[in-house]
Amino acid sequence: MKPIPWWQESVCYQIYLPSFCDGNGDGRGDFPGLLTRLDHLAALGVGAVWITPFYPSPLVDNGYDISNYCAVDPRFGDMGDFRRVVAGCHARGIRVIIDLVVNHVSSEHPWFQDAWNNPASPYRDYFIFSRQPNNWQSFFSGPAWTPEPDTGEFYYHKFAPQQVDLNWANPQVEREIHRVIDFWIAQGVDGFRFDVINFLTTDGVLADNPMENGEQRHAHDVNQPGIIRALQRLCRYVRQRGEFFLIGEIGSDDLEVIRRYQGADLMDVVFNFNLGSQKTFDASRLFAELTAMRERQPGPPTLFFSSHDMPRMISRFGESARDVDRARAVLALQLTAHGVPFIFQGEEFGMTDFVAQSLEQIVDVQGRTHYQTALEAGMTAEQALAVALEHSRDASRAPLAWEEGDASLRDDYRQLIALRNDTPALRHGHYTTLELTDACLWFSRATPDEQVWVAINFGAPVRNPWQHIEGEMLYGEDALWIGKNQFFIKRSCHGKAQ
Ligand code: GLC
Repeated sequence: MKPIPWWQESVCYQIYLPSFCDGNGDGRGDFPGLLTRLDHLAALGVGAVWITPFYPSPLVDNGYDISNYCAVDPRFGDMGDFRRVVAGCHARGIRVIIDLVVNHVSSEHPWFQDAWNNPASPYRDYFIFSRQPNNWQSFFSGPAWTPEPDTGEFYYHKFAPQQVDLNWANPQVEREIHRVIDFWIAQGVDGFRFDVINFLTTDGVLADNPMENGEQRHAHDVNQPGIIRALQRLCRYVRQRGEFFLIGEIGSDDLEVIRRYQGADLMDVVFNFNLGSQKTFDASRLFAELTAMRERQPGPPTLFFSSHDMPRMISRFGESARDVDRARAVLALQLTAHGVPFIFQGEEFGMTDFVAQSLEQIVDVQGRTHYQTALEAGMTAEQALAVALEHSRDASRAPLAWEEGDASLRDDYRQLIALRNDTPALRHGHYTTLELTDACLWFSRATPDEQVWVAINFGAPVRNPWQHIEGEMLYGEDALWIGKNQFFIKRSCHGKAQ
């Protein structure tokens, strides 16, 4: 039998470096700070960390605008610090995944600087220039084209104007990215999280996107022909170099789109925004997505409910601002359902969203760009602020409150991660049952040696969550907590009492 890859067995933890832990007192998280927190991660029991971009960057989009792929921004430390973090993680049995943004580079990147200053530059074809911009819009709002005053041409950027899209139709771009991958593999990383990977190719003719109900449908700029082949080449290139965990961020919350990017010759996993990005808590929607993922996804799904791009699940799912119980129950789901769990930094302390009150407090480029576009569209400052607050992603990016943590929640994280780490059926067993009865989600996962039943009750307390599975031979019961929401687990060792 093929061995189970390590990433299917691991709990991943997302480190948003700028706000994780500040080691030098400048108010920004960095590698020396992270180094002092490795024991916290080991005690939690995580098996891998995904570290968001730390490369030299003007930080217009907090590092998702890279100006040098093969170095560390001095504000985050240096290469020595990076190597110490990798070694420190490995010594604790934690793998290191780095975030690679290959859809675009910073406008400060030397490739773009050369292309911008010199129309005859060999780097001109690393980017997409056009005399005639089409109607494509940036995902941060406003046009996706910015004029170049000297040439009368426009360059293409799917995000901010300072994040210039690379031209993946040029094989030279692919070769450059291969060199970047080799560089980081040589530094000992264990995998890559590829940013907005379904945006790499365009339709090649730059046709206008159709408008539907006043919104642009991205018919010509995302999920375009050639993308799957380009990603197959990228994934093959990495896999030829060893066993690495490849995570794809697909900019979509449609499972039908997301699933196309996962496979033995593609990404190991893709982020399941269809499950994770739900704005409010709804047990039946969760159940519907889990069922669809079980039926239609070609590989293990990802289980996450918070990230640096969305408000925290505690703030989204609770019945009140400090309702941690719901988050506890969702965590139980994350750690027992089929898939690879991703925990976002600070969730284990019960951190809630930062809510900006004024324009000055909005740091995120997406929020600020929306503000500008709203003003240009004729809105008042007050209306534009409301739009900006709706789109700003600052909510989950506040510095981690290391000293103020909710200790009981942190203990639940440890206990549940340990439960998963110690239970093979929870790590890689497939569902044998997945049901929702009232607000009680229950499922069973099995390996050839054991079967585990899990019941998570999101509704009013129930006395016996097992009434639905009467007749099964069940031995040993753990009720990890009984509060407003309940979590129960039973194991059966194929007929033998444990
Ligand atoms: C991804 C990142 C996000 C960034 C965007 C552009 O969605 O997660 O933070 O703004 O890509 O790089």
